Amino acid sequence: MGYTFIVLGSSILAVLLAGYFAQKYLPPPKPKIVGIDLGTTYSCVGVYHAVRGTVDVLDVQDDHQCIPSVVAFSESGQILVGYDAVAQSEHNPANTLYDAKRFIGKVYTEAEIAKAQKQYPFKLSGIIIGTLREAAANNLSGPVTKAVMSVPAEFNQLQRNYTRKAAELAGLEVLRVINEPTAAALAYGLHNKLGLENVVVVDLGGGTLDVSLLNVQGGMFLTQAMAGNNRLGGQDFNQRLMSHLKKVITQRYGDHLTDKEDLQSLLLHVEEIKINLTKDKDCEIEVWLHSLGKTFSEKITRTLFEDLNRDLFRKVLEPIKKVLEAVEMTKDDINEIVLVGGSTRIPKVRQLIAEFFEKEPNTSIDPELAVASGVSIQAGIIGGMWPLTVSAVELPTQVKKIHL
Ligand SMILES: *[C@@H]1O[C@H](CO)[C@@H](O)[C@H](O)[C@H]1NC(C)=O
Ligand SMILES: *[C@@H]1O[C@H](CO)[C@@H](O)[C@H](O)[C@H]1NC(C)=O
Ligand SMILES: *[C@@H]1O[C@H](CO)[C@@H](O)[C@H](O)[C@H]1NC(C)=O
Ligand SMILES: *[C@@H]1O[C@H](CO)[C@@H](O)[C@H](O)[C@H]1NC(C)=O
Repeated sequence: MGYTFIVLGSSILAVLLAGYFAQKYLPPPKPKIVGIDLGTTYSCVGVYHAVRGTVDVLDVQDDHQCIPSVVAFSESGQILVGYDAVAQSEHNPANTLYDAKRFIGKVYTEAEIAKAQKQYPFKLSGIIIGTLREAAANNLSGPVTKAVMSVPAEFNQLQRNYTRKAAELAGLEVLRVINEPTAAALAYGLHNKLGLENVVVVDLGGGTLDVSLLNVQGGMFLTQAMAGNNRLGGQDFNQRLMSHLKKVITQRYGDHLTDKEDLQSLLLHVEEIKINLTKDKDCEIEVWLHSLGKTFSEKITRTLFEDLNRDLFRKVLEPIKKVLEAVEMTKDDINEIVLVGGSTRIPKVRQLIAEFFEKEPNTSIDPELAVASGVSIQAGIIGGMWPLTVSAVELPTQVKKIHL
């Protein structure tokens, strides 16, 4: 018995050593499995490179790494995806479909929606995944047939199955589906931690806030609690600044701004200002308003933006408190805080989270690429691209999301 064990042990060692030397002297293997982040607003694809030990999130359209999750059907029957779909959306709004992922696994009945969508709710997602697969195939100069995909933690089994189906439509076999917060934790290498860690993942995007509490131990991830707010995100912060500027315009010119084009143009500037104010303390808006025949300009400080959104920013803490309550933990039990989603770039949001935990959140990875990076790392692990044994397994969870 003991003898058999030793033989077995040394043959495993031999295999490991062979693998080690092969890795050292053979040309670097090409990534075979891609990681796909099919996001509600943006989607991206990445690959893990074993030798460098890093992830490339690939350019999909021009030099954009992530493309809007938007599909459009032109009058001539052409299918447009991502930035191409957004570019024509003003002229063809009825046939431009945003937020394709929300359709997954849901029965859609509205009559005016395009035929393809009625028949196959997941076809839209398939079209986006197909665009990502092509980008990866171009980058890797070869066919791409396998993927790992991330989905929202609250997706049920049916929605996960539909996600797989959507990928199959795009010619991809899905080897594993993982939760977005788990992917974000993977991006920070938390699967390599040996002791038990409690990780809070805060995902604040354009329109939704999701908070998850994960246990991570020896590469095993377990979701302990989830809470969120489906009506809080970057768009709400924009709206506060919009209302303020509309008031200023009314006061200055005695005219309400109602022209659709002008409002759209103002909103685009507001989005740009919000982004600039994450690094600058103040900036100047300058926008031509054709309905008033005037160029409107106004200085906007970061402090003003924060004052306008004070109550909304504080709301970010509510689901954080809820997940801690749900598992009877305190903030001191949390080892790592991972931020995901573009709106977590807002300095005030980061500051409030850091003050609450009395600990700096991890922000070294671009919050918009964290999920794509993590799902690509999972793809690398499954593809055996890691030296020796690194694992990352997600245990199924029964917890229900708390909606605020
Ligand atoms: C693949 O993508 C990486 C990361 O963006 C880039 O550095 C590389 O040049 C691309 N390769 C090809 C062949 O497009
Ligand atoms: C999802 O797919 C699995 C494997 O194909 C199947 O066993 C399971 O019943 C499906 N679940 C639902 C809810 O469709
Ligand atoms: C935002 O920043 C960019 C790049 O720094 C600059 O070109 C642009 O003018 C700025 N916009 C505003 C409204 O401040
Ligand atoms: C995250 O940030 C904390 C506090 O700054 C730090 O101790 C920890 O090492 C960081 N973890 C990772 C994975 O970057």
